[in-house]
Amino acid sequence: MHVEFIWTEEQYHKLVESCSVNPMTPYILKHLPKNKPLLEAGCGLANFVKYLTDQSYDVYGIEISKKAVDIVNNLEPKLKVTCQNIEEIKFPDNYFGGLMCFGVVEHITEGPEKALAELYRVMQPGSIGLISVPVFNTIRKIKHYTGISLADYYIRKFYHKFSGIDMDWLYKDTIKLDGPKYHHWPAAESFFEYRFSKKEFSQKLQDANFEILEKIPLEGLGGLYFELSGKIVNLSKPSRFIVWLNRQFNKIPFFHHHTYLAIVRKPTI
Ligand SMILES: C[S@@+](CC[C@H](N)C(=O)[O-])C[C@H]1O[C@@H](n2cnc3c(N)ncnc32)[C@H](O)[C@@H]1O
Repeated sequence: MHVEFIWTEEQYHKLVESCSVNPMTPYILKHLPKNKPLLEAGCGLANFVKYLTDQSYDVYGIEISKKAVDIVNNLEPKLKVTCQNIEEIKFPDNYFGGLMCFGVVEHITEGPEKALAELYRVMQPGSIGLISVPVFNTIRKIKHYTGISLADYYIRKFYHKFSGIDMDWLYKDTIKLDGPKYHHWPAAESFFEYRFSKKEFSQKLQDANFEILEKIPLEGLGGLYFELSGKIVNLSKPSRFIVWLNRQFNKIPFFHHHTYLAIVRKPTI
């Protein structure tokens, strides 16, 4: 079972515009080849598919939300975006010369194993994949083991209810976890995503036979934003104190970072 995302047409243009400043972009441009077919698995509104196609990359996007795929096919009929589940990818073995999968496998309630095996299957031997997940970082571990995460969840829920902020997507009991396999968010009630420690997700990648080339902590400010709230951390215009705090925490990998980006390779044997 996976989380149903609510995508709208309005989001599309903003997302495409923001690709040039997306933290993933330098890694895509550095590692993925222009002369081979690339896959973005779980592409959402296909902003990277559009951004890279415009730069003459040969990119395919797959996405499970039919609504998102319809929006993209309608706005950009030339993009190669289809409705598919990454756990059952309809492409042959060894088809793609590079892979992107950003923030997707953590949304599968059964865990990321089947999806990772499929991603591995469709990659060419020797090709590079960029796979990211949210991290169960040090701050999150402290909050979890002291019970602060749970208190945080109910305080926010109470606040959202009385301030009229529409967070129904989060608090509606869309997915009940029947024995969660990993640390997850939110801490109670409904399921949105798993959050993996660096060690845990690295092990998942190795179990799927990937060779890990780099383990990159990303989105420090994003991590502070999620843990401290938008009232304290303004992502587009952070205060000088938050910029300073982020710089200090950046010295410790995976202390506060929201995202773990793994650069992986399918071995050539
Ligand atoms: C957090 S969004 C990330 C979207 C995009 N990768 C990005 O970075 O903007 C996760 C996306 O994964 C999609 N997704 C979740 N489970 C999936 C599955 N089993 N197969 C394909 N897509 C899936 C969701 O519908 C959603 O669009």
